[in-house]
Amino acid sequence: MEKTFIMLKPDAVQRGLVGQIIARFEAKGCKLVGMKLMSVDQALAEQHYAEHKGKSFFEPTVQYIMSSPVVAMVWGGKNVVALARELMGATNPANANPGSIRGSFGMDISRNVIHGSDSVASAEREIALYFRPEELCDYRKAGEEWLS
Ligand code: PPS
Repeated sequence: MEKTFIMLKPDAVQRGLVGQIIARFEAKGCKLVGMKLMSVDQALAEQHYAEHKGKSFFEPTVQYIMSSPVVAMVWGGKNVVALARELMGATNPANANPGSIRGSFGMDISRNVIHGSDSVASAEREIALYFRPEELCDYRKAGEEWLS
């Protein structure tokens, strides 16, 4: 089953949006494979956003992600990388579909509530950055045969 890495960013935790956002993934039929509330240190933040090193938003983004705990999650499902990007909406909440997560809950690109992997390769890299293999659960979810 395809997997993706999803992070509920500090603003989602601080604003009490965690439950509402998780509910959208559950309602869609995605399978929760791993989840933890955690603080991100400088080394992990810089690794996460390594491809953006040198860009103007790199430092502020690293500081933002370290500013409060985040919820790191792994979700599984059919084409779940692309599906999660649809649920999330455009990177800049100002351009995101109003029904999407960022469209519903965000206003500014520097506080855009949620991160999701942009490809299967990125998902593998990001899952390995945040989770040890034994932190991911391999189980059968009731009803998953109706969705895959
Ligand atoms: S880009 O513009 O193609 O480099 O952007 P992208 O690959 O989609 O992701 C950039 C991540 O940095 C966060 N961020 C910003 N991006 C662009 N401009 C500004 N000003 C900015 N500030 C922060 C953006 O939310 C992306 O983070 P993730 O965690 O992937 O959402």
